[in-house]
Amino acid sequence: MKPRILVSREVFPEVLARLAQHFEVDDNQADEVLGVEGLKVRLAGKAGALTAATDPVTADVVAAVPGLKAVCNFAVGYNNIDLAACTRAGVMATNTPGVLDDTTADLAWALLMATARRLPAAERWLRNGEWKGWQFIQWLGSDVHHATLGILGMGRIGQAVARRALGFDMKVIYHNRTRLPADQEAACRATLVDKQTLLREADFLVLLLPYSPATHHTVGAPELALMKPTAHLINVARGGIVDDAALIAALKGGRIAGAGIDVFEGEPKFNPGFLELDNVALTPHIGSSSSATRMAMAMRAADNLIAALSGQRPPNLLNPEVWK
Ligand code: DGY
Repeated sequence: MKPRILVSREVFPEVLARLAQHFEVDDNQADEVLGVEGLKVRLAGKAGALTAATDPVTADVVAAVPGLKAVCNFAVGYNNIDLAACTRAGVMATNTPGVLDDTTADLAWALLMATARRLPAAERWLRNGEWKGWQFIQWLGSDVHHATLGILGMGRIGQAVARRALGFDMKVIYHNRTRLPADQEAACRATLVDKQTLLREADFLVLLLPYSPATHHTVGAPELALMKPTAHLINVARGGIVDDAALIAALKGGRIAGAGIDVFEGEPKFNPGFLELDNVALTPHIGSSSSATRMAMAMRAADNLIAALSGQRPPNLLNPEVWK
């Protein structure tokens, strides 16, 4: 008998077909958001699951499914999984690092360019029929080339963002828990600085930290107060890293010039104050959303689940303590 598994959100048919070679698959192609209670019901009797960043794999959920052996996120972030609870229960947890770095870095750059050159507001203005003629002093934006790019969180995605800055002749500074090895620093021509210097000097500040209680509101009113009034903030990491109310106040008051935001506190709901602002570019958590990358993420999660339930160590195991 094949082990039973749940795929918690809609995925590509190719992924289901691959999983069906190994498992009896309960899919969710209707794409209902299951939540804690829904997950408990649908996980009953399952040995494993492919889960998304929207699935709260809480201690409660883990405790409710005694036969659960593996939870494989199709996301690099895994703040939706209570990793400690999984480890206590001997449940393997995995994520999908590496396959979405370039796609997410591309989106960070799209938002950076959009806020620098005021694209969303200019396009709305054009669509509204407000363009009465070309003017010399019209829709003036900020230059990206030769500006200073600041990166908070210099993992793989941060480095991919930094490498793209070489083509714009930017100065790149970063802050990270640990300094990058010299060859990696050289590859993106980046200089380590302390957090205050990063906030003070960046013309474009890109946040690429994982979310955890320790990184909650890493950027709030005190940090925004240190930034240049001409600076732009870009968040493609996770909601909650930025204090959204403080950001909206800073954008409204001209404390900073603009922002490009892909992730929000409490998403998919978000602070309606964002909608009143013309100096923001907003996207609905699409950092890794290209066809090829979403396929690669789902296939990587499938690889992890197939390995985990066939007695092999999954390639992206987050809690090696459970691996004997
Ligand atoms: C990730 O991989 O963490 C993306 O945010 C998709 O959820």
